[in-house]
Amino acid sequence: MKIESMEDLFLQQIEDLYDAEKRLVKALPKMAEASTSGPLRQAFESHLEQTKGHVTRLERIFREFGKDAKSQTCDAMKGLIDEGEDMVSDIEESPLRDAGLIAAANRVEHYEIAAYGSAKAFAQSLGRKSAVSLLEQTLEEEKEADQKLTRLAESTINTEALRPGPVHAR
Ligand SMILES: [Fe+2]
Repeated sequence: MKIESMEDLFLQQIEDLYDAEKRLVKALPKMAEASTSGPLRQAFESHLEQTKGHVTRLERIFREFGKDAKSQTCDAMKGLIDEGEDMVSDIEESPLRDAGLIAAANRVEHYEIAAYGSAKAFAQSLGRKSAVSLLEQTLEEEKEADQKLTRLAESTINTEALRPGPVHAR
């Protein structure tokens, strides 16, 4: 896609985010499943519901701009999700794995916070108030999800992860 205007650039960002969010909708149930901590599992499950809403908000933005919802492969999110999958394959089921899953998920959230921040600023510069408000709502949910995960890690999971896990490879 040739980008020649701020609107083109904005829509390119939205297409990238659309791909990223749809990948997350597929990845989050696996991260929930791989968690041993109940609260962590719940955090992933509730963020899955929010993430489905993020997809819907992006679809609304496409409509408001008179465009069909389109995905542009988000290589960054692909890589971040791969790293989350590595945590599952490299660490036996244990609080240590939970700590690794949170580290991977925090990276995902920070990526999204950066992307939504830029997209919101572009919508602002275009004077598209409705898009600004939709992106703002998602941005706030990403920040809350990030903080919730960090609190879980720092309040309990990182300490539990210091103890040997229930299953050892050797
Ligand atoms: Fe999201």
